[in-house]
Amino acid sequence: MSVVALIGCGFVADLYMRSLASFPHVRVLGAHDRDGARMAAFCAHWKIPALPGMDDVFAGMPRDGVILNLTNPGQHHAVNRACLEAGFHVWSEKPLAVTMEQARDLHELAVARGLQLASAPCSVLGEAAQTLAHAMRAGVAGPGRLVYAELDDGYVPQAPLEEWISESGAPWPYVDEFRVGCTLEHAGYYLSWLIAIFGPVRTVVAASAGVIPDKRGVADAAPDVSVATLFFHSGMVARLTCSIVAPHDHRIRVICDGGILEMAKAWDNAAPLKFRRRLRIRRRLLEHPIGRRIRLRGPTHPMLGRRGSASMNFALGPVEMLEAIAQGRPCRLGGDYALHLNEVTLAIQNAGETTGAQTMQTSCGMMEPMPWAR
Ligand SMILES: NC(=O)c1ccc[n+]([C@@H]2O[C@H](COP(=O)([O-])OP(=O)(O)OC[C@H]3O[C@@H](n4cnc5c(N)ncnc54)[C@H](O)[C@@H]3O)[C@@H](O)[C@H]2O)c1
Repeated sequence: MSVVALIGCGFVADLYMRSLASFPHVRVLGAHDRDGARMAAFCAHWKIPALPGMDDVFAGMPRDGVILNLTNPGQHHAVNRACLEAGFHVWSEKPLAVTMEQARDLHELAVARGLQLASAPCSVLGEAAQTLAHAMRAGVAGPGRLVYAELDDGYVPQAPLEEWISESGAPWPYVDEFRVGCTLEHAGYYLSWLIAIFGPVRTVVAASAGVIPDKRGVADAAPDVSVATLFFHSGMVARLTCSIVAPHDHRIRVICDGGILEMAKAWDNAAPLKFRRRLRIRRRLLEHPIGRRIRLRGPTHPMLGRRGSASMNFALGPVEMLEAIAQGRPCRLGGDYALHLNEVTLAIQNAGETTGAQTMQTSCGMMEPMPWAR
């Protein structure tokens, strides 16, 4: 039996509990939240023990278990640090930390203690991303030249946000979301895929802005739009867009010599990958209007139905981490990869208007495909 414990019983914690249930060999020790009422409601809903203090989490955890830090981004550094100092492996919700100083501090502490520290998102370990990575390795569409990836969520401040309630009754924390910003919250969903498929980023040329002046009266809101051009060491170039302004669009398109590999949904592990071959018909050049579906052979991982805006198995990352610990190898989403993902994300978020080109100081190796995707 593998063991996890949750710190933070908010909106995302419900998605984790649903996801963890799809892996019966994983036991949830219990959950802690500094908000006692929230912890009580959450633990009653899921019928798991409430752990009133961090020390109660540490007391019951086996050394080969993983603590899931599901707190708000501003708390990630402190909570990740406390868990590492207590000698436990940590899975952190994204971002790993909100400054690179904090991220490096955590990375160094984990290395010094021989502990694993990884960060969400884990959709890169899911079927959709692994299928795209496989298609690129197999050269289905020929060499890739350019990626367009969009993480536009629609004009979110006008959405009925008060009605976005999780299964155990946690409201979607829009005040914190607007302050943290959609780039820090969401860029990782495609950045993680791009780094896994094309390797580390060399240069970020980005701009970010706040274009909606009043987001439900939230003061100190972060940028609500960012557009980045990413130059990879491998030679690939990608444009990544994040916003809570432009109409909902979560497409990713990899433009290759033989046509386009495209997917319409970032937050669906089962999203179909289509290959649209490039054609010449008389004097016209076009991509085939009907895509051919590219699939992996054989079973992949447990799928979850749609909950809110996502059909993702949030446990893929923690479960891969538990396996890595048991096998004595580094997990896929930890170490240098997690630090690099954090640096690229922050470079985009903080770009503003005039930063210009930013040379990345961190790097990482290529990510191993999942065994079922090789
Ligand atoms: N909301 C989503 O749809 C979603 C989806 C994927 C990932 N995430 C990520 O999950 C994380 C949590 O987001 P959320 O939406 O669940 O937020 P939330 O505000 O709903 O929940 C966070 C919970 O953490 C608790 N908490 C904060 N600091 C704490 C501390 N020091 N000790 C103990 N408990 C503490 C809060 O009391 C709160 O109940 C964020 O990093 C976010 O980026 C959110």
